[in-house]
Amino acid sequence: MRIDIITLLPELLKSPFEASILKRAIEKKLVEIYFHDLRDYGLGNYRQVDDYQFGGGAGMVLMIEPIDTCITQLKSQRTYDEVIYMTPDGQTLNQKTANTLSTLQNIIILCGHYKGVDQRVRDHFITREISIGDYVLSGGELGAAVLCDTVIRLLPGVLSDETSALTDSFQDNLLAPPVYTRPALYKEWQVPEILLSGNTPKIEQWREEKAYEHTLNRRPDLLKDK
Ligand code: ADE
Repeated sequence: MRIDIITLLPELLKSPFEASILKRAIEKKLVEIYFHDLRDYGLGNYRQVDDYQFGGGAGMVLMIEPIDTCITQLKSQRTYDEVIYMTPDGQTLNQKTANTLSTLQNIIILCGHYKGVDQRVRDHFITREISIGDYVLSGGELGAAVLCDTVIRLLPGVLSDETSALTDSFQDNLLAPPVYTRPALYKEWQVPEILLSGNTPKIEQWREEKAYEHTLNRRPDLLKDK
C-alpha cells in the first residue's frame, strides 16, 4: 500500500511513523508513506496557499490551485483508489471503514486547515471525507495519523501475530474481552480460574461471553448492528 499525505504541517505528522508498529511496517516495505508540503505548491513569491472567503466571514480557506497542482501531479504518476479529505463533517471513522481502506493500493489523504478547503476541491477531487470523531482538531494531521495507524496495522504481515487484529475490539461489533498475565494471584486479586484451566474451547466460550457482556454494558449501540 502507498499513502500520499498532503499537508501544511508535515512535521506534525512524521513522528507517529517513526516508532513501533508503523515504523516496522515501513521498514518491511508493507507500506510506503510520502508527505507533500502544500506550501511547495503555493502561489507566487509568498507561496500562498490560503485566502479570505468570498461573502465575508472569519477564517482563511485553503485555495484550490495548490491542491489541484499537487493532486494532479500525483495522479499523473499512478492511479489512486481514494482521495480522502480529513474533516470534522466527514463520515465518522470506524473499524469497517479501516478494514475497507486496508485493501486498497494507493490513497491520497488531504489534511484540512483553518476554515477548510474551497468547496470545489471537495466536489471535484475528493472521493471520501472522514472525521475521527465529533470534535474539532486544529487541522487534519492528527486525524490522518489516526487513520493511517488504524489502516496500516491491518495490512498482512504488519502485526506479528496474524490473528491479533481479528480479536481487536470492534471486529464483529464487539468490544474485546478482558486479558490477564502473570502473576495469577496478585495481592488478593485472582485471575479467572477458567483462563488457567488449559481448556481452549471453554476459554473461547468465556471470552465470547465476556466480550458480549462488556459490549452490553459499555456500548449497547454496537449490538444493534450485529
Ligand atoms: N479536522 C478537524 N477536525 C477533524 C476531525 N474531527 N476529524 C478529522 N479531521 C479533522
